[in-house]
Amino acid sequence: MRKQKALLFEMGRAGRCGYSLPSNDVPEKSLSELLPKNVQREEQLELPELSEVEVIRHFTELSTRNFGVDTGFYPLGSCTMKYNPKVNEEVAALPGFTHMHPCQPEHTVQGALELYYNMEQHLKEVTGMDRFTMQPAAGAHGELTGLMVIQAYHRHRGDHQRNKVLVPVTAHGTNPATVTMAGYEVVQIPADERGNVDLEALKEAVDETTSALMLTNPSTLGLFEEEILDIAKVVHEAGGLLYYDGANLNAIMGYVRPGDMGFDVVHLNLHKTFSTPHGGGGPGTGPVGVKERLIPFLPKPLVDKKDDQFYFDYDLPNSIGKVQSFYGNFGVVVKAYNYVCMMGADGLKQASTDAVLNSNYLATLLQDNYYIPYDRIRKHEFVVSAKPEKKKGASAADIAKALLDRGFHPPTVYFPLIVDEALMTEPNDTESKETLDAYARAMEEIARAIDEDAEKVAAGPYYTVVGRLDEVRAVRNPILRWQKE
Ligand SMILES: Cc1ncc(COP(=O)(O)O)c(C=O)c1O
Repeated sequence: MRKQKALLFEMGRAGRCGYSLPSNDVPEKSLSELLPKNVQREEQLELPELSEVEVIRHFTELSTRNFGVDTGFYPLGSCTMKYNPKVNEEVAALPGFTHMHPCQPEHTVQGALELYYNMEQHLKEVTGMDRFTMQPAAGAHGELTGLMVIQAYHRHRGDHQRNKVLVPVTAHGTNPATVTMAGYEVVQIPADERGNVDLEALKEAVDETTSALMLTNPSTLGLFEEEILDIAKVVHEAGGLLYYDGANLNAIMGYVRPGDMGFDVVHLNLHKTFSTPHGGGGPGTGPVGVKERLIPFLPKPLVDKKDDQFYFDYDLPNSIGKVQSFYGNFGVVVKAYNYVCMMGADGLKQASTDAVLNSNYLATLLQDNYYIPYDRIRKHEFVVSAKPEKKKGASAADIAKALLDRGFHPPTVYFPLIVDEALMTEPNDTESKETLDAYARAMEEIARAIDEDAEKVAAGPYYTVVGRLDEVRAVRNPILRWQKE
């Protein structure tokens, strides 16, 4: 049975109170004496009157409705909702880190600068790039920074006609959005029948107006680009640069490096691959790494070291400038640094191995009941197409709601766009076999329920706090605050 929650306004009773204070023994002034007339209310403010325990129970109950990686399986494709070890939080909360001020003189923050410096060395090793900035506050912010660096590079060389960025259809949605934000024109490149970038289409698309190719590898289909070296060659020969969306690095770290594949610019999502919490607009970090020839264009300052002293290097005359106040989200970098040190090179490689193993294991289980296009070994995620179920009467969205009823966070739905009725599923490296088996059983149960009564499935969910919402109305006409009838 769905449990309806009364609002505080509905629970309030006149005269009920959450505190008791001794009676006033000093002369009291009325509000009309204290406030000027023009800011005084004409009517009494309606506030619910409640006891302390009612308020506590209300908010405690609401807090248990949050779903997160700490409460359950969260296979939200592309978002890498993996568990974030709590020790990272403890380390980032050390007073030496939290009590710093970004305006402190350099000689008083040597430890923080050393951490930035060391983190950069690790990221260089993992990616094969030559320098990193930690300023961008998210993956998409890293994308914008990277494209601005590319733009500055071409302009510096007088290559002003390069106004197009090639984006494969299998790219993450932020890629074309970033291209537009950076003032470029998006040129879409189709996929071939194996889910790779269509090399022939790419060859036709590149020319002297190509600024860059922006590639998510592994792609949003969870597939590694089989012709990556040829792709790099085609773009470079046309004078373009290669941008690597490395938010999916959790599938390949320790095995292959974007720098060795020919990429010139890379962004990473520390808040995914390197296991720091993200979502809800919370802080992230999208470091951008570049090859040697692009270093002069990076945002300034960079952190450097001379005679055992760490310092901010502002000496970058071609820099695109700052992209974030101060030096980025330091706390996120501390957490990621702790994670990298804890895991070590072998541990990071193992995380990729486990992410890929879990993804292929779960895909194989689901294949008994669902259609998964592009049937080849995937990396960290795979995309189910609920097209056959849609024909029976239950769509990808209906399957997602049915998963909610079974206690699972659904996969990403309706993305990537090249798969009809997509359910983009990323089990990630931190989940156990038992969890994956339980999810596969839930999906099997849903497949059977669709065969028996698709209409019933399409009317769900039945056990969540709210039932099926009119999603269009909820977006177009949201009711976000209580109003007295
Ligand atoms: C492949 C890929 N690129 C870019 C991004 C954008 O990252 P952010 O959400 O931090 O802006 C994501 C986010 O999940 C992603 O999965």
